[in-house]
Amino acid sequence: MKKRWNLGFVIVLGMALLLTARPAWSQNAHPQNLPQKAHAEVDALALTPPMGWYPWNIFGEEPQTEKLIKEIVDALVTSGLKDAGYAYVGPDEGICFSRGPDGKLTSNLTRYPSGLRGLGDTIHKKGLKYALYTDAGSKTCSTAMPGTKGYEFEDMRAFAEWRADYIKIDWCNSEGQDIVKTYSLLGQAQRAAGRPVVHSLCSWGEGYPWQWAGAIGHMWRTTTDVCAPGQADWARAVRIAFANEKLAPFAGPGRWNDPDMMVVGMPGLSEVQGRTLFSLWCMMASPLIAGNDLRDMTKPTIDILTNLEAIAVDQDPLGAQGHVVWNDGDVSLWAGKPLFDGSRSALVFFQGRSKARLRIAWDEVGFAAADKLYVRNLWTHETTGPHAGGVDVTVGGSDVAFLRISKTKDFPIPPILVADTYLVSLRAAGSRPEKLTGTVTITNKGSSDLPPWRVDPKSLPPWLSVAVTGGGKDQTFVNTVATAGLKKGAYHALVRADNVEPVSGKPMSALYYDVDLEVVRNVRR
Ligand code: GLA
Repeated sequence: MKKRWNLGFVIVLGMALLLTARPAWSQNAHPQNLPQKAHAEVDALALTPPMGWYPWNIFGEEPQTEKLIKEIVDALVTSGLKDAGYAYVGPDEGICFSRGPDGKLTSNLTRYPSGLRGLGDTIHKKGLKYALYTDAGSKTCSTAMPGTKGYEFEDMRAFAEWRADYIKIDWCNSEGQDIVKTYSLLGQAQRAAGRPVVHSLCSWGEGYPWQWAGAIGHMWRTTTDVCAPGQADWARAVRIAFANEKLAPFAGPGRWNDPDMMVVGMPGLSEVQGRTLFSLWCMMASPLIAGNDLRDMTKPTIDILTNLEAIAVDQDPLGAQGHVVWNDGDVSLWAGKPLFDGSRSALVFFQGRSKARLRIAWDEVGFAAADKLYVRNLWTHETTGPHAGGVDVTVGGSDVAFLRISKTKDFPIPPILVADTYLVSLRAAGSRPEKLTGTVTITNKGSSDLPPWRVDPKSLPPWLSVAVTGGGKDQTFVNTVATAGLKKGAYHALVRADNVEPVSGKPMSALYYDVDLEVVRNVRR
């Protein structure tokens, strides 16, 4: 895809790449213009990096159809990726809508016969979240679809009607547009549409989005595309990792640097390289958006993408982005990622060919030099220690040692949430008042218990009440509809529930799901 690069950004990126060999983290840029309030503080979305799947890396534009997306959705569930936390899925630039003569977006029914709302319902019913794609300019990158320019409010309303939960907004064909103003307007339009969405800004680092985009959305691309569709590019992915790590100070809960979708499992990448890139993405608290063909995965690819111990580092609630501590050209030490239980992750990346042997000293990775610590290898799943002063590691070519280091022998996994469904559909056929119920169960695949969810009463219409039952690992939202006095028609509610840390009161996650009610005839009081 041809991109126009902002010259200033290219110079900064070039300088950043030159500085890769710098000895210390102190030379990194520090955030100066961080907005007072991150947008995620309002909707509590993406407080940990979003996880999901997008078609672009493997498929590009043309092969995308409803059939393909549905097959991928099934593969997400059966392969175990859903159970590892991957949730956002949908077409990218898949020629899925056009603009009608009235200015409104309409689904491409030839390629998506159920329409984009129908596809969203299928995805929600499977306990997954719906991702869509558009552009901030006049057209999308391939020019096959209309961009939002001049139609920001109408288009965000259409996305809300289709029930999207995540919208990636590209920056192609945006000549002459002010980037901050344009994305701010799109943010306003999303809020006006009334459906909270994860907003993924995609300007490839143009306009320095890490400085301002946290007030508008939840994640922003920091670099150019990680590959051309169909083929992984190891060297490019590594370059992107080293550019992205420098932006560590700008990341935090609800505001993520996005080094692009993953290439794990794509042609052109060895198993070791896939494991290494996955480790780097986890170390950088990057959104984990798989980009490979989920219908056709080797066991090693599945094992990499579903390694909960690695995912636990990515999904850690503190939301710190790890970064390079030192880099001697072939070997780099990555740290700076404290985790919620007091442990820390560290990573050694060897870009040479044979083997690197070195000692990681505890004071290089955030502990006291004299500490005695346990070390968990996140790929072999072995714990050793206690080690005094540091630990010796051996790393093969293009490989990593990805470690979690702790004062205790336990390595708890933070909450990884998986839903049985995100759509409750109820139908009242008679004229007599009745009570209908439908449930949504959220399972925590992490090892620590989750406090009870609290449903926001403001998100409930008078006909719906919600009680949360269970605790610890499984919590069920029992939705009860009282039909007395309801008129014939279709009703909809978007339920919001929040999970907060009991001691600090800090938000941990917000959950949104849809309740649809069809009332076939007027119901008596
Ligand atoms: C840009 C983005 C990619 C993809 C394509 C679609 O290149 O960076 O991730 O969305 O557009 O055309």
